[in-house]
Amino acid sequence: MKAFIQSLPKVELHLHIEGTLEPELMFDLAKRNNVPIPFNSIDEVKAAYNFHNLQSFLDIYFQGTDVLIKEQDFFDLTWAYLLRCKEDNVHHTEVFFDPQAHTERGVNFDTVINGIHEALVKANNELGISSKLIMCFLRHLDEEAAFHTLESALKHKDKIIAVGLDSTEVGNPASKFERVFAQAIEQGFLTVAHAGEEGSASNIVEALNLLKITRIDHGVRCSDDEILVEQLAKDRIPLTVCPLSNIKLKVFEQMEQHNIVSLLRKGVCVTINSDDPAYFGGYMTDNFMAVHNAHSMEKSEIVQFTLNAIEASFISNYEKKRLRGVVEDYVSLA
Ligand code: ADE
Ligand code: ZN
Repeated sequence: MKAFIQSLPKVELHLHIEGTLEPELMFDLAKRNNVPIPFNSIDEVKAAYNFHNLQSFLDIYFQGTDVLIKEQDFFDLTWAYLLRCKEDNVHHTEVFFDPQAHTERGVNFDTVINGIHEALVKANNELGISSKLIMCFLRHLDEEAAFHTLESALKHKDKIIAVGLDSTEVGNPASKFERVFAQAIEQGFLTVAHAGEEGSASNIVEALNLLKITRIDHGVRCSDDEILVEQLAKDRIPLTVCPLSNIKLKVFEQMEQHNIVSLLRKGVCVTINSDDPAYFGGYMTDNFMAVHNAHSMEKSEIVQFTLNAIEASFISNYEKKRLRGVVEDYVSLA
């Protein structure tokens, strides 16, 4: 099954580019940019990746971003991730970036987006990997900062498909960003949001109603509200689930307790994604394998995760049909 999963065509919909910063690249960039980091070795970095909840991870994640300063750094970070996509047979990826994690440190918005975008274009040309870019607002910052970030994004509208919401969920309700999301929608952006990762099922309902999101990032706490699960299944509202992340951040104690397979069987449009793979121990194939190892599944169910991701993606209907064909061809020959 490992070979089948490795070669299965995949689509990733929940990936923070800053969360792909591998310790080796962190050290290289720290040296290149002369930025001090509180680690003496790669082993020390890995030992620090021992999280007890979302916040304990975010503290380390934002610290890691300090080494990213120049356009070339954002290019190198993104290119390294795209090479990993090639290994895992990811055909299409929708990438989050956190501009405020950089502009807060004095790095220019344009530097960030241009470096990322250049790597995405190169991957399309040279690796055959298509992509979309999603700009996230940090929910621990205020509404004014989000409006300012949206303003900076307007001249790059052609490079950004959607806006999202990430960082500390508990204590930072969707309502805080209702007006900035309304403005983003007016400007033509689609909307997504992290909800129901650590926070309750009611956060999912609130994000759907107030932020008009078309898919939910994580959303696994929906299982606390059976009526919501029925609505998600009936309306095919997608969840971008990140199995290894959920274990590392103690959303579930063990993969055997993860609800992704049970949601799939209830008809919810669940997808498998890697979130912050450099921190959580694996990219796409690793996430598929972790779910497969903990839950007995038919081959057709494993394939359904990719079909769901194609359905939930922001590509055109024509592209969706083409990608479904790629998956069907693979399955018929495997
Ligand atoms: N930023 C990066 N990864 C995140 C996650 N899993 N939840 C919220 N914000 C994040
Ligand atoms: Zn995330």
